[in-house]
Parts: sequence; C-alpha cells; structure tokens
Amino acid sequence: MTPARMPPDRAAADRVTAGPPPAADARPKRRLHVITWGCQMNVYDSTRMQDVLAPLGYAPVARPEDADMVILNTCHIRENASEKVFSELGRLRPIKQARPDVIFAVAGCVAQAEGREIVARAPFVDIVMGPQTYHRLPEMVARAARAAGAVIETEFPAESKFDHLPDSAAPAISAFLTIQEGCDKFCSFCVVPYTRGAEASRPMPAVLAEARQLVAGGAREIVLLGQNVNAWHGDDGHGHARGLGRLIRELASIPGLLRIRYTTSHPRDMDDDLIAAHRDVPALVPFLHLPVQSGSDRVLAAMNRGHTADHYRRLVERLRGARPDLALSTDIIAGHPGETEADHRATLALILDIGFAQAFSFKYSPRPGTPAAVAPAPVAEVEKDRRLAEIQALLRQQQGDFNRACTGKVVRVLFTGTGRHPGQVAGRSPWLQPVHMTGPASLIGTEAAVRIVEGHPNSLAAEPLPQPEELACA
Ligand code: 5AD
Ligand code: SF4
Repeated sequence: MTPARMPPDRAAADRVTAGPPPAADARPKRRLHVITWGCQMNVYDSTRMQDVLAPLGYAPVARPEDADMVILNTCHIRENASEKVFSELGRLRPIKQARPDVIFAVAGCVAQAEGREIVARAPFVDIVMGPQTYHRLPEMVARAARAAGAVIETEFPAESKFDHLPDSAAPAISAFLTIQEGCDKFCSFCVVPYTRGAEASRPMPAVLAEARQLVAGGAREIVLLGQNVNAWHGDDGHGHARGLGRLIRELASIPGLLRIRYTTSHPRDMDDDLIAAHRDVPALVPFLHLPVQSGSDRVLAAMNRGHTADHYRRLVERLRGARPDLALSTDIIAGHPGETEADHRATLALILDIGFAQAFSFKYSPRPGTPAAVAPAPVAEVEKDRRLAEIQALLRQQQGDFNRACTGKVVRVLFTGTGRHPGQVAGRSPWLQPVHMTGPASLIGTEAAVRIVEGHPNSLAAEPLPQPEELACA
C-alpha cells in the first residue's frame, strides 16, 4: 500500500504546479493551482488531473490567489485528516469570497470518505471527487459552472479510470506509473479498502506502452505505484496470467530505462517470481519498502495482516539471498488496540533483527469505520507516545548507521535535479538516499558513479570521481 507517509506536502504541491505551460493555441487561458497532500500516489494523481484539465486551457500557477480553479488533493490515512482539510478550506475561503467564479474542488481520500460533509461544512466548494473519478473532471467542471449546488462524485464506477486518463504530458527523470489501485486486505486500522475500493490491476500492454512513452520523454527511472502494488496481476496480451515479477522483467527490456522501483508492497504478495526478479534484474533497485506494522504475532493477527513476524523475517532472508545488497524500509504502528508492553518489545526486537535503512512509524490513530476503531483495549495516548518515541529512536539510529556506512564508498547516483546550493546537483543512490554534490548540471538525467564523502542522518554528500586521466597520473 502507498498511502500517506508524508505530512501535508507543500513540496509535492510545488512539484505538481511547476509543470511547463501548454503551447500557445486558441484555447481559453485558465489558471490551475493544485495542493497535494500525502503519498506519491496522490502526487501522481495531481499530475494526472492537471493533464486531464490541460485541454480545457488550464495551466498551472504557483499561488491559489492567482488561480481560476483550486484543487485540494487530500489524504485520509493520518490523524485528523478531515479537520486539516476544513482548516485549509477556511484558509482558502477568502479567495472564493473575493472571486466567486473560482472553482474549488476537493479530491482524494478525504473527499471519498467525507463526501457531503465537506459541502455541508464548506458550502463554497464546487466539486467533491473520489480518487476513481478524475477522468470525469472536465465534465464535472462544466457541471459545476452550471449547477446551483456542488457536484459530488464519490462512487466507485464499474469502468476503470485507467482507461480514461490521458498519458502523462511531461515525464520527469524519475516518473511514477500507477499500475494497481485499491486494496482487498482490510487491515484492521486502515481506511484504504473503503476509500480506494477493491484491488484493480492495469493491463500489462497499457503499462508497457506508457512506460515506453515515459522513457522516450526522458524518464530514466520508473516507480511503479499501487496501494498494494505487488498484488498486481494481469494478462500479458497472449493469454498468460502474469505477476509483478514478470512485468518488471518486461519493463527492464526497455532501452534507456535505468532504474525500476515499486511501492508499496504487502509481505503476503511477495511471490517466488518477484523475489527472483530481485536476483535477475539489475535495473530493479536494491531497495524495498515492505511494511511490517508490528513485530508481535498477537498484534499482527489483530491487525488482520495475515502473516507472522517470523514469516516476515524469513521473507527478508530470502530477499537478501536473492539480492545481498538489498536495503529495506518499512512502516510501523505503535499502540494498536490490544498492544501490550511485551508486544511493543517484540516490535523493537524485529526492528533490531532486520536492520532498516529507512522507515516510517506512526502512532495508532482510530479511523472511523475501521474495525480497530471499535476494538477493545485501546492503548493510552501517553503510552503510545512513549512506544513511538522508542521505535523512532531505534529506527533513526539504524538509518544513521546505514548512511554513515556509505562514507568512502563509490555508488551510482541517478541525478534528477539541482541541489539546494548553487552549483550543486542532487539525486538518489540505489538505496533511495538523497545525494548532493557540487557538479555540472549536465549530470542531470544521467546515472554516474560518485564517491560518498559523508553520510548524514537523512542524506549523503558526494564528490565526483577523478577523471580516468587523473587516475592515470596518480
Ligand atoms: N493509524 C496509524 N497509522 C496508520 N497507517 C495506516 N492507517 C493508520 C492508522 N489508523 C500507517 C500504516 C501504513 C502507513 C501508510 O500508514 O503503517 O502502512
Ligand atoms: Fe495496506 Fe492493509 Fe491498508 Fe491494504 S488495508 S492499503 S494492505 S495497510
């Protein structure tokens, strides 16, 4: 699963709104501002909404005050998500008061979950749309312009939204490609099966066609997205049922594609072929986000995860057998209802056993409509805080150790942009660590071997390798 592991993400909103303006033509010029919260899936969805609206003449602008349409693309996974939406809408309301023609839309999981409640509490909102409906945005915009009340589209339509969205306009060096949506796992704590609907996979030929297009447009890395991405399955176009391992092998044969990643996975869906792909496909990065949530079998059962802590340990062993330099990332929840001190200790023990290069940890927070929200034996807030702090201290230490261990090593970095300081370029190591280095902008869009000079808690500093002729003189 992929839902929000970032706080409300202004950087993501900037990315979404920073696309190039469309070519000059006779279309009316309209200005669009998209605010994106949450996960990579939401960032991707925002880009797609922008693509869907481009034919209507909408071009991105950086400030909501300058826009003719404002979309708030929300995420429901974290605490108080709905309240954050209402407070953001309160902040935006003066724009509508000053210019009543501006169209306001709320998209994403909060829109799906709250629907009419949004319009009841923020009547100036024109469109409320669930994640499965974005291809119908132009029609909703037209209806909003005519309608007296808000347009609310939160049904899961029988048709697939994959079939309707236009292909991405301006692919990035690292491009997202949604291949799967929804989830049937029904973990006790999670809203995704209710907000994103049942699992659906995009057909292999469509995925491969879009991947080729992304690479032709300059993408060097493709990040395969899905709430439960390794549940992806599909017909290969020749009548054979395939899983994610096969899809990755097919993608790896696209010339010019240097890196493949996928996120987010479920331990139950790591099949033999996918594990073998980690051994066989060099372009598949040696990094895997594999949420475990807890290290206690009691809690894992209460969470309806369908696996034990030892199953996870064995799985990681097999993955590392296939790809010895594999680094892992995970999600952990502290204080699920019923979690005891012994369960918490079991989680710390699992973290110590695995050794994560990166992780996201959350204090359990009840989501209305989920089984855990009404489960007995809730854990006291203060206790959840303490457990989360212990978990985070351990994870921080592991991440720091992992980064420091890179010092002095030569690693390949895919450079994707400029760094924070003048003259810097920035990119990612194969293990997803952000890397910055003083170097020429011509490196952007390429993968280059560099030497890591320092491992920081959250990033790596690098220097260019000496040129071959310098080496010869040495
Ligand atoms: N409380 C706390 N964390 C949650 N997550 C999902 N739902 C909840 C919740 N109700 C976390 C899980 C998931 C990540 C994206 O968010 O760890 O993997
Ligand atoms: Fe991930 Fe479980 Fe939520 Fe599905 S129900 S998205 S597997 S946490």
